[in-house]
Amino acid sequence: MKFIIGIGGVTNGGKTTLTGRLIKNLPNCCVVHQDDFFKPQDQIELGEDGFRQWDVITALDMDAMVNTVKGWMENPVKFARSHGVSVSTTSDPDSDIHILIVEGFLLYNYKPLIDVYNKCFYVTIPYEECKRRRSTRTYTVPDPPGLFDGHVWPMYLKHRTEMENSSLDIQYLDGMSSKDELYNQLYEDIQNSLLNIL
Ligand SMILES: Nc1ncnc2c1ncn2[C@@H]1O[C@H](COP(=O)(O)OP(=O)(O)OP(=O)(O)O)[C@@H](O)[C@H]1O
Ligand SMILES: [Mg+2]
Repeated sequence: MKFIIGIGGVTNGGKTTLTGRLIKNLPNCCVVHQDDFFKPQDQIELGEDGFRQWDVITALDMDAMVNTVKGWMENPVKFARSHGVSVSTTSDPDSDIHILIVEGFLLYNYKPLIDVYNKCFYVTIPYEECKRRRSTRTYTVPDPPGLFDGHVWPMYLKHRTEMENSSLDIQYLDGMSSKDELYNQLYEDIQNSLLNIL
């Protein structure tokens, strides 16, 4: 049985932290990080606002991301092994559980990926906290001054509205909760979902 979990949400909401802990504790669990699919800087469009447009879907090689997810769907055992994830299987492959976590800031705004999730989570934090956390980070390409207010936050609001207008069943997570609380909540929720479909 295959189960795909989306962990989307705002930048610095804690998606990667949460995902890291879940993959250590869930059985046969692989991960796809959307951030691994950013195009090189020279291919990122320069907007009329003067900012490189990093927080839009065209900044990502979404074909490659979809192919990676499909690769897992076609053969989760092969995918796990080739990504160094140890897998335990039984004599009845149909009863084995295989989990994929897809995490990133723009998971639910791209049609070819929308239907793949069994469960969609979305982490939110308020503007002030988001700006504060982001200012403490050092990215491979550092944020130029004004990027957060001029591009990152407005794009987040736009994509969030788009997502809310779609028919996806999204479960919202309060990223202001502690790391432990968030992890415990998600772990329990995922266990319950797995029990329900087995
Ligand atoms: N529950 C939490 N409470 C407080 N701080 C947190 C929490 N979760 C993560 N953080 C901190 O917030 C920052 C961002 O965390 P993380 O990288 O997991 O977020 P992200 O959503 O993956 O961000 P990105 O936009 O870079 O992908 C880190 O400094 C992390 O330690
Ligand atoms: Mg991250």
